[in-house]
Amino acid sequence: MKNPIRFGLNIDHVATLRNARGGRHPDPLRAAQVAKQSGVDSITIHLREDRRHIRDSDLLRLKDFCGLPLNLEMAATDEMLHIALKVLPHAVCLVPEKREELTTEGGIDIFSMQDRLKRMLSKLNEAGIRTALFINPDVLQVHAAAEVGAKAVELHTGRYCDAEEVDLRLEELKRLQEAARATTMRNIECHAGHGIAFDTVVDVAAIAEVQELNIGHFIIGEAIFSGLENTLKQMRHLMDKARV
Ligand code: PXP
Repeated sequence: MKNPIRFGLNIDHVATLRNARGGRHPDPLRAAQVAKQSGVDSITIHLREDRRHIRDSDLLRLKDFCGLPLNLEMAATDEMLHIALKVLPHAVCLVPEKREELTTEGGIDIFSMQDRLKRMLSKLNEAGIRTALFINPDVLQVHAAAEVGAKAVELHTGRYCDAEEVDLRLEELKRLQEAARATTMRNIECHAGHGIAFDTVVDVAAIAEVQELNIGHFIIGEAIFSGLENTLKQMRHLMDKARV
């Protein structure tokens, strides 16, 4: 394939299900191992401040045994920086985090925390970790991400995926396309994710600048009906088809 796209699987919600009953089942590590055999390129986890799904022990087991590059989503806090520099995952994506939110609601506002981000990104870059900032699809935020030292941005696709009206959906898709184009001007990688499902993956994967998609909730939910391996293979197929 001329312009391949990487598939990152977010396994937070395997841990959500496990934690609903305590104990060890279902095990996020087992999900990562199935992912490895089903066309997935990397594993994403979000270690939240309240540890509501992924726990510190999951991070350590996945880093050592999942067999795929590990992408750690985390808030821009000193606690998380300390953990990332100790564990050294392949990649870190800095996300905004509110205790009361159900999921990451929007992108990080780089302008309101430039100094903190600069300091954190420089330490993570120095440690050889690939850095990304999760941002709304906004050209100004892409430029700001490059200025503070991020090596990639992950564009928040939630508004595009949630849009029910055709006009709104097209408008959101255009915002994603414009932000993606700006990443090439700044020579940083373009990733995308949030809310992606079978019916939305094709348009996002068709944006040529997008190099990686991170998808979680839909896949883990769909796996209840079709199995994890089938669901992953179908998603992989749709992503690849969009690139041809
Ligand atoms: N990317 C980021 C930065 C996220 O915070 C999330 C949600 O944890 C995802 C991707 C995956 O979103 P979803 O679970 O809706 O596919």
